[in-house]
Amino acid sequence: MPGINETMSQKRLFNPEGTRDRSVQRLVGGPSTNLLEFDNCRYGWAEELYKKMRSFFWIPDELPLVDDKRQYPTLTPHEQDAYKKTLSFLIFLDSIQIDNLGAIASYITAPEVTACLKAQAFFETIHAQSYDYLLTSVVDHMTRDAVYDLWKDDSHLLRRNRFITDLYEKFIADPSPENFIRSCMADFLLEGVYFYSGFAFFYTLGRQDKMGGTVSMIRLIQRDENTHLALFTDIMRTLMDENREWFTPGIMSDLTAMVKTAVTHEIEWGKYVTRNQILGLSDQAIEMYIKYLGNIRSKAVNLPEPYPDQKTHPLSWIESYSSMNLTKTDFFERRVTNYQKTGKNFNIGRLRPPSQNEQK
Ligand SMILES: [Fe+2]
Ligand SMILES: [Fe+2]
Repeated sequence: MPGINETMSQKRLFNPEGTRDRSVQRLVGGPSTNLLEFDNCRYGWAEELYKKMRSFFWIPDELPLVDDKRQYPTLTPHEQDAYKKTLSFLIFLDSIQIDNLGAIASYITAPEVTACLKAQAFFETIHAQSYDYLLTSVVDHMTRDAVYDLWKDDSHLLRRNRFITDLYEKFIADPSPENFIRSCMADFLLEGVYFYSGFAFFYTLGRQDKMGGTVSMIRLIQRDENTHLALFTDIMRTLMDENREWFTPGIMSDLTAMVKTAVTHEIEWGKYVTRNQILGLSDQAIEMYIKYLGNIRSKAVNLPEPYPDQKTHPLSWIESYSSMNLTKTDFFERRVTNYQKTGKNFNIGRLRPPSQNEQK
């Protein structure tokens, strides 16, 4: 295996020297034939994740948004502003993920993990398309154009987007193990921290029975993001397990610094977008929530908690929106099972988000 600052080799497409012996396979630099056989794969977690992702397939433009179009003008100016800014950020992240996942997959020598990355890229495409459909359906075309161009004019958004893409591009330009680890960690943090104040904003609208179609869409997106987070958690853990020499104390403290940076950026962004003017989402709540996420994400990849004082979830009601299909008692799971074709239409009326009373 290359040293931490040496150059990694992309996997060979045609590899006659490869073997099907799963006991000798590795996540990167392994002797794979590239043949996908789940029955004989090294990483059982990848097979499980692939099947879960596949079962989550959904079609954005079959969700009705007529009520959202009617309701949007009745939102407060702050809610409208947060709606547009949040979408602008999500559009950017999901769109760049589509290509970046391919860059990572080029170095993965476990076909079952490559399958998950390709499936993830497909779901990111669905997400990018869903935002397009959302804006086309809910706002006028000038507002839609402004949201798509916002990242060029809004210095805060530009700074954030540049930070993320710089990390990705650094690995593409210089594919060393160190940059690979940092790129995977950036993916992990993007899936596990960067989306969350935005999702929380949409769920506060849902709690007030506002923009139900948008909220249903965001919930389906977050259901997918949970699988992406699980994928990068497993990738990081496997890298740590198989390449201990790479994970020096210096790299480990670097990864903790990345968590802290991600948390700081997400808190600043959340506050900037909501301006302390969104019901149920104060600056303080955002700060506590994102720090709490920073802790649980760190623990998931064997890093120390960066915010030991933030032990509790300050917005636990969010979990009833975001953790669907993870527990049997989740109310949304019951509704999603009704997301089935009835003739030409999906029975999606029951995807309506819960009101505050239903959540109790
Ligand atoms: Fe996504
Ligand atoms: Fe994702």
